[in-house]
Amino acid sequence: MTVSPAGFTPPPYPFDRLVGLSERAGRLEGGMVDLSVGTPCDPPPGPVVAALAASGAERGYPASIGSAELRRAASGWMARRFGVEVDPGAVAACVGTKEFVASAAWYLRLRTPERDTVLAPAVAYPSYAMGAQLAGCRTVGVPETLGGGLDLDSIGEADAARALVLWVNSPGNPTGTLTDLDRAGAWGRARGVPVLSDECYAEFTWDGPPSSILQAGPEGVLAVHSLSKRSNLAGVRAGFYAGDPELVSYLSEIRKHAGLMVPGPVQAAAAVALDDDDHVVAQRARYRARLDLLAGALEEAGLLVVPRPAGGFYLWVPVPDWARTRGEEEGRGGDWVLAEALADAAGMLVSPGEFFGPDGTGHVRIAVVQPDDRIDLVVGRLRAGGIPGGGGRSPGGR
Ligand SMILES: Cc1ncc(COP(=O)(O)O)c(C=O)c1O
Repeated sequence: MTVSPAGFTPPPYPFDRLVGLSERAGRLEGGMVDLSVGTPCDPPPGPVVAALAASGAERGYPASIGSAELRRAASGWMARRFGVEVDPGAVAACVGTKEFVASAAWYLRLRTPERDTVLAPAVAYPSYAMGAQLAGCRTVGVPETLGGGLDLDSIGEADAARALVLWVNSPGNPTGTLTDLDRAGAWGRARGVPVLSDECYAEFTWDGPPSSILQAGPEGVLAVHSLSKRSNLAGVRAGFYAGDPELVSYLSEIRKHAGLMVPGPVQAAAAVALDDDDHVVAQRARYRARLDLLAGALEEAGLLVVPRPAGGFYLWVPVPDWARTRGEEEGRGGDWVLAEALADAAGMLVSPGEFFGPDGTGHVRIAVVQPDDRIDLVVGRLRAGGIPGGGGRSPGGR
């Protein structure tokens, strides 16, 4: 089959571009420590894994919208965690949330074909923009305010009038900032723009209690949740969306026709996970400790500021002047220079901020998703040698 040159060509997948850095990081004794993709490493609770084998749900087709048990468990969790009452009838399953994020604009465009714009954080998880592209839409990036959180006032009314959807993500990947979700919901309601709130890091909110867009009511909004991060279940693909009954009904009907189904045993396991909060308390403590340990070690090794995130399990580290200058001299982003220095000095594989949009090039993202002994290995290397070119204890420092 020949493909028209004018047709869509998928861009290189961001993490596939890390081969060179991975090879450099792997030269150190003890090997490379992968802090690039935000994929959990810690175990899910035993009863959740047991439910995968014991549900008896493997023979028949599962309900696309999700089993009554899964939807009850999701609604119960939202009541405990956020204090919101969500009718299980306004909850629907998705096959992990990435597919939902990447397909929602396409499906919403079938409903409102005259709208062609996806509004999403300017520095963001790339699937919001990819979803726009797959839907034949343009993306308009919404920057953050200086204090963090989306700068909704920066959205022009002409863009708002064309908007199919506004994506918000709090706590945000990669920046770790929190957005005022009540305000975002009100912004969308005032303009007839559905607001889809990606809340997959809600359990890892560090500054204050977690929040959901549903706390101000379901009208015109959806909260999107994942079991991947909350319960270390990225491998089984389980998530759900909940909120405005009309939006849930429209999307779940289309998704049923499209054959999107969470496997039955996975739905059973997800319900068990959502009914339990203790494992999340333990997971929060792990991430909190790793964030603090690694941030401190990076600062001691010569990076002047390593802000602690308000939420999430990423460090969003500003590129220091020396790396920016070197990048300019070499005709590449300072984020790649810093990522290379971290690979050489500590065997760390991190994500250049460019992966999260052109405005991300002033940072690298470090995911604290390796077991404690691997994080300790990185910390030991940083303490022993610093970051070459980075000041601090580095022999080549300022
Ligand atoms: C902001 C954000 N949304 C959604 C996802 C998708 O998660 P999953 O498809 O595993 O539910 C991720 C995964 O990294 C993410 O960072």
